[in-house]
Amino acid sequence: MATKINSIKGTNDLLPDGTPALKAHTVASAHTHVTNIARRVLERAGAQFIATPIFEEAELVKRGVGGSTDIVRKEMYTVTYFGGHGGYILRPEGTAGIVRAYLQNGLKQLPAPLKLWTHGPMFRAENVQAGRYRQFHQVDYEVLGSADALVDAEAIALMVDVVRALGLTGVRVKLGSIGDPADRDSYNEYLRGLFSPQLERLSDDSKDRLTRNPMRILDSKSAEDQALLRELNVRPMLDFLGAEASAHFAEVQAYLAAWGVEYDLDPSIVRGLDYYRRTAWELHHEGVGAKSALGGGGRYDGLSAQLGGPEVPGIGWAFGIERLLLALEAEGVGLPQTPGPLLYLAAMDTENVGLAAQTALGARAVARVEFAYKAQKPGNAFKDAERRRARYAAVIGTDEAERRVLNLKNLVSGEQREVSLDDLNAVLTELESN
Ligand code: HAM
Repeated sequence: MATKINSIKGTNDLLPDGTPALKAHTVASAHTHVTNIARRVLERAGAQFIATPIFEEAELVKRGVGGSTDIVRKEMYTVTYFGGHGGYILRPEGTAGIVRAYLQNGLKQLPAPLKLWTHGPMFRAENVQAGRYRQFHQVDYEVLGSADALVDAEAIALMVDVVRALGLTGVRVKLGSIGDPADRDSYNEYLRGLFSPQLERLSDDSKDRLTRNPMRILDSKSAEDQALLRELNVRPMLDFLGAEASAHFAEVQAYLAAWGVEYDLDPSIVRGLDYYRRTAWELHHEGVGAKSALGGGGRYDGLSAQLGGPEVPGIGWAFGIERLLLALEAEGVGLPQTPGPLLYLAAMDTENVGLAAQTALGARAVARVEFAYKAQKPGNAFKDAERRRARYAAVIGTDEAERRVLNLKNLVSGEQREVSLDDLNAVLTELESN
């Protein structure tokens, strides 16, 4: 017998409702629900849908996400094909691809600020654990063409709106600023001075970070690094903001306060990608674990130029759909299942199976209608209809076929009603609407 082939570690199948032992983050209808809610909130705010390829030139990710990040140094999946080169990467995130698409397709011509959103799979070769996968899904929102603090505040408020619309309550925004490049340089210089005498106590990864980008040490997952950080009493990035970044950050906070959007100031926010500057934030939830963010975002005014384009200010955020679903599960928020069919049709004898199918096909112009592929006894047909969570069922026998009628049975009340086949679509339209 051939051996069974299983999915790759850290990837998940998204499965239909009713699958045995279905886990919250792998329910396909729940993913659809999240993206539908996000679509409603974001499109009301003027965002338009964009989709970019899931593989891109490696150079885009290296330059976009940044050479000092874990993503680029350890977690990139390269794509090769037989006989071809291996210079492609499975995207680890959506922002770099969206900015590339913006530059490549002349989206600068569209009215600014241009709001875009997308959702889809992302790939990072991380250590797999609850809420951390190698293929995961994001909802992503980006705004291009404005450096105004109002855009930052709106982006944060929208992110909160999406999770609220999903029914989550235990969410906190951790807000910080990582300043302009010159502010970051002086902070990194300060950190070098602080950590260099402690070189031997740093983890190997952080020794490396000390040369490439000392700020990354603050984000280290190593316990020794974290102990050293506590001991050294490191000053936060916020202390190093220049006048302009400070004023911008104050303005963002003033809007949020005026609108009643709650946040906790987090002076130590670092974020795991290099393109950020100024406003940066994360959305956290107790249900997903203290260190795991539901989502995060920030401003990236330098990214366009880094990708060979003109200076285009940008800001955006993404949240992980799997982590949102785990948080919803932790809060006990039920999600709507895909509704069953309005009508389930079966034939009592083989000669009428085709008529049941034809009737169903015609009725699909107005509603979801399913049919039995084999003749069924009425008792079995009604049981089947209930398993499929149908609202109505009808069984076609010789008498119904001759008279061209159906006996619609309401599966909740048990009431029956005879309907002529000619009127079926009108009746279904009416039933669908109530
Ligand atoms: P990020 O913080 O790397 O930001 O990822 C955003 C969210 O994606 C995380 O907060 C988390 O919920 C989810 N996520 C990340 N890695 C994993 C994983 N391995 N397994 C499950 N979920 C994961 C970005 O990706 C930026 N592109 C966000 C952004 C958009 N910034 C500006 N525009």
